[in-house]
Amino acid sequence: MSQHLPTAPYRGTRDFLPGEMSVRQQVFHRLYEVIERFGFVRYDGPILESAEIYEAKSGREIADLQLYTLTDRGGRRLALRPEMTPSVARMIAANANKLQFPVRWYCHVNCHRYERPQRGRVREHWQINVDTFGSDSANVEIEIFELIHEMMSAVGATRDMYVLRANDRILLEGILTGIVGVPAGRLKDVSSLIDRWEKYPREQLAEDGAGMGLSDEQFGRLEASLKAGEEILGDLPAEVIERSQLAKILQSPARDLVTFDPLIVRAFEYYTSTVFEVFDRDPANNRSLFGGGRYSDLVGLFSDKRIPGFGFGMGDVTLFDFLDTHGLLPKPRPEADVAVIPTDESLYEAARTVAGQLRQAGHRTTVPLEPRKLGKELGRADKAGASAVVIVGPEDWSAGNVVVRHLVTGEQQTVNVPSLPDTIRDLLA
Ligand code: HAM
Repeated sequence: MSQHLPTAPYRGTRDFLPGEMSVRQQVFHRLYEVIERFGFVRYDGPILESAEIYEAKSGREIADLQLYTLTDRGGRRLALRPEMTPSVARMIAANANKLQFPVRWYCHVNCHRYERPQRGRVREHWQINVDTFGSDSANVEIEIFELIHEMMSAVGATRDMYVLRANDRILLEGILTGIVGVPAGRLKDVSSLIDRWEKYPREQLAEDGAGMGLSDEQFGRLEASLKAGEEILGDLPAEVIERSQLAKILQSPARDLVTFDPLIVRAFEYYTSTVFEVFDRDPANNRSLFGGGRYSDLVGLFSDKRIPGFGFGMGDVTLFDFLDTHGLLPKPRPEADVAVIPTDESLYEAARTVAGQLRQAGHRTTVPLEPRKLGKELGRADKAGASAVVIVGPEDWSAGNVVVRHLVTGEQQTVNVPSLPDTIRDLLA
């Protein structure tokens, strides 16, 4: 007995069989359509990038713990992209002279991160990234927040099922320095403490806070500020509010698009102001569906030009968990609408001619590849989800006819070949 290689995909990666792929494609196409309705155009790029583009500003978690790196035969240090943002910043920098700003781009790519696989987390996931480049206006945020709600609506979600939680690093810094009294050198540490806020018990947070030099009183003020909701913004100086796109949105009619939440920090170092995440309200799914923010200096890694960016990544794993939890998954499409079945081998050519006409008319049509009993082929067509079969038999064919059987009702009729496409169209409708 020979030893076979394992058939399971690498841990944390997934095979997508056609049934699942059909469901995914239906959902993704609805999303592409909505995104394009806002004027975003699709781009793509390589899965391999120089490792250093992630080491610069993506944050320690990605760079030190999650990056898949390799050295090519020429000794170059490469990485499988863990995210798209550094790549798109590179592409914008490389093409800035040709582009007309503001630029609205989207892509749909697979990303790799070395993480512990768990609900909502895998090692290869697919992200739709949507980003706008070249504007500091809060209108960029508003447009993308509107788009997110449209995307959710396109997949059948309603506002009570999810929440878009947004924060601004400028506001957070204002709270930490002005209200809590955190020294500038400790801002990063305390931000990472806030990032863990919902995952750890209070005692642990207090202890970590003390380790960062927060007094009990400061920790209390931090806790109170994080709980205060939007009211805390009233305690910030006008100069801080002025610099924040999110603060503008919260004071405008667009305020209903988001929920202000100072607990949203996000791990990436490149974000400069607005940060946000979209969450399922069902506690079964505690990982974000969308994550994004504003990055004003990332393109600056590649160019002297200052080109601010703002956008998000939406992950497939959490999206499909969400759709499943809320009963919103579409059904897979059948393999074919019509199966054309010749009753003996001499009629294959005739069956192919008939199938050709039906395909011309836009129907997904199959013909058997090997002769099998009619009953078997009928069973196969039924399993494949076909709505109709066209049986090509010797006598009918010599009279210029075929037999059409509706697989759901079992009704059967003899049809003249030239009128077959119309019959099938009516039958499928
Ligand atoms: P992110 O929050 O790391 O942001 O990822 C965006 C989304 O991708 C998450 O909300 C989640 O749905 C999904 N995701 C991330 N990691 C995993 C994983 N290991 N398994 C399953 N799903 C995952 C970014 O990547 C930013 N580059 C997004 C961005 C675009 N910011 C601005 N523009």
